[in-house]
Amino acid sequence: MAEQDRPGRDFHEHPGRGIYERPGRWCPLGYRYGASSLKAAAAFETETLYVVGGLYGNPFALESVLEAFAAERGEKALVFNGDFHWFDVGAADFLRVNRAVRSHVATRGNVETELASPSAAGGCGCGCGYPEWVGDAEVERSNRIMERLRETARAVPEELAQLASLPMIALAQIRGVRIAAVHGDANSLAGWDFSQERLATPAGRAAAAAAFPAAGVRIFASSHTCLPVLQSLDALPGDCAIVNNGAAGMPNFRATRYGLATRISVRPSRAPGVYGARVAGLHIDALPLQYDADAWEVRFLEQWSAGSDAYVSYFNRIAEGPKYAPRQALRLNQALHAAVAE
Ligand SMILES: [Fe+2]
Repeated sequence: MAEQDRPGRDFHEHPGRGIYERPGRWCPLGYRYGASSLKAAAAFETETLYVVGGLYGNPFALESVLEAFAAERGEKALVFNGDFHWFDVGAADFLRVNRAVRSHVATRGNVETELASPSAAGGCGCGCGYPEWVGDAEVERSNRIMERLRETARAVPEELAQLASLPMIALAQIRGVRIAAVHGDANSLAGWDFSQERLATPAGRAAAAAAFPAAGVRIFASSHTCLPVLQSLDALPGDCAIVNNGAAGMPNFRATRYGLATRISVRPSRAPGVYGARVAGLHIDALPLQYDADAWEVRFLEQWSAGSDAYVSYFNRIAEGPKYAPRQALRLNQALHAAVAE
């Protein structure tokens, strides 16, 4: 039996390769919604939309994004599109994050899904669906982080029930432009098709472009894959884009200590984005979340001491940022470059 045909498993990448048998590399079929399900009617219409993925249990980044959002005028909506938990193994932070996201629109990521309804029978670990460019040791550490976070979550079963009930996607509309806020990609909660790595290849861009007509949207706002990208694609008449905010709760660029959120609006941002574009008449910005980085470092170390799994995987990034730059994240075609220059 081919690996992708095995019941209950979704080897959505590279079927036939042995590493995709392992926990953390694959995800259950329940993660797959398919792009055509995004053709449903938008759940809400607004003027300004924040999409905040990968908060990773950072309460200081949460404070920063809530403050920025509160300062927005006009109709507005904030979507936490998954993985708002991760490092918050301390009960107080876990509850703080959980209760805050509940006040807004929240969709579950693989972290919340595996917390609330662990795919224990299949042993898919953290549910990240890691691709081949992520090393085995990192994948194993992620699985153990998930185990430890589960201990925290088990103490608050009523919160878990709420997480389990969250949807996987949020569909919004701004001035007639349909926007899908997803966690992974157009097809799967933990898909990597909207990763900067995959979008750097012609085959990856072709696959991503096909998702637009399939989903009937002009903008995808995603997260999950750790690094940000604002990618234009010539898939539809008029313009369209994928905007992946990377992480709200961790730095995204070398020598920086701020997170990123995606802002999509009928009006320009008062606070300048790290980069941005005009897409389908809307302003898209990668908003910097200038949280208290020193305080976050202390809080992180209280929960994940030197040598712990999260420390080994993430502390350097939290302290110094990843080896990635804004110019690598902004990938606009000529039409959108012209719009930026207007
Ligand atoms: Fe994720």
